[in-house]
Amino acid sequence: MPKAELHLHIEGTLEPELAFALAARNGVTLRYPDTESLRRAYAFSDLSSFLALYYECMAVLRTERDFDDLATAYLDRARADGVTRVEMFFDPQMHMSRGVPLSEVIGGLRAAAARSAASGGPQAGLIACFLRDLGPAAAAATLDALAEHAGDLLGVGLDSAEVGYPPGDFARVFSDARGLGLHTVAHAGEEGPPEYVWEALDVLGVERVDHGIRSVEDPALLWRLAADRTPLTVCPLSNVRLRCVEAIASHPIATLLEAGVNVTVNSDDPAYFGGYVADNYLALAAELGLGHDTLAVLAANSLAACLDHPPAR
Ligand code: HPA
Ligand code: ZN
Repeated sequence: MPKAELHLHIEGTLEPELAFALAARNGVTLRYPDTESLRRAYAFSDLSSFLALYYECMAVLRTERDFDDLATAYLDRARADGVTRVEMFFDPQMHMSRGVPLSEVIGGLRAAAARSAASGGPQAGLIACFLRDLGPAAAAATLDALAEHAGDLLGVGLDSAEVGYPPGDFARVFSDARGLGLHTVAHAGEEGPPEYVWEALDVLGVERVDHGIRSVEDPALLWRLAADRTPLTVCPLSNVRLRCVEAIASHPIATLLEAGVNVTVNSDDPAYFGGYVADNYLALAAELGLGHDTLAVLAANSLAACLDHPPAR
C-alpha cells in the first residue's frame, strides 16, 4: 500500500552494521565490541534509557557523506515498504554540539533525498527538532542557526525527554519558526500527560501531534482532535519498546480510531525498535486484529496528513 511516513528520526535508522562502518571510517570508538553486543543493549525501560543510547551512537555521524549514507539506507528500506513520502526528523542540536556543521547535516540529508526522488523512491522533506530538555533559549539559538537553511526545511518539531518540559515553554520559538515560513509539529502525550497535547495544539498551534497516545485519557481532547482532524503520528512498536504501552494487543490506537481521530502509523526509530513502518502495520494486523480496510484508512490518512504535498508522479 502506498503510504507516507511522518514520524521518523533519521538518526534512529542507524543500524548497528552502519554504525560500526561509520565508526571505522571516522576513527570513532563505540563502547560496544561488535554489532551483536550493541543490539543486546536495545532493551529499554523508558524513553530516557533509549535516548541515552540513541545520542551515544550519533557520535559516528561526522560528515555530509555519513548523513547521506544514513538517509540513503533508510530511503531504500522505506521504498520497499511502499513509502512514497517521508517527513524526517533530525536533531540539529546534537550534531552542532559535537562540532558537526549544520550545512554537513542538511547537505547530506538533502543529497540522499534528491537521489531518492529522482530514482522513483520516496520524496523526502526535513523537520528540524528542538531538544525540549535543553530549554527554550537553546531552541531559539538553534532556530537562528537554522534560519539560513529555512528553504531546505519543511518545518520544526520538538522531541527528546518529555515529562517536565511542557510544550508551552516553546511558544515564542514556534511562532518565530512560522515567521520563517516553516510548518510546526511537536511530540506530546508519549510519556507526558494529555495537558501537553492541549498545549501543543493551543499554545504552539502545531499542525500534527507526534505520538499523542495519552490523549485517550481525556475524552474532551479526543473530541477536539477528531473535530479538527488533527493528525496523530502514532508509533506502535516504539510505544511497546519504550514501555509506554504494555503490548500491541492493548495499544490505544484502537480507542483513537473509534473516537474518529485522524491516526497515522509510523516507525519512530526503526533500527532501535525492531521494525520499519510496514512492520508496524503488520503488527497491528497480527496482534490487534486490524483488518485490511482499517490499514488502508491508516495509509490514506498518512498521505493526506503530509505537510507539503509533492507533485503527483
Ligand atoms: N520521543 C522523544 N524524542 C525522541 C524520540 C521519541 O520517541 N525518538 C527520538 N527522539
Ligand atoms: Zn519520535
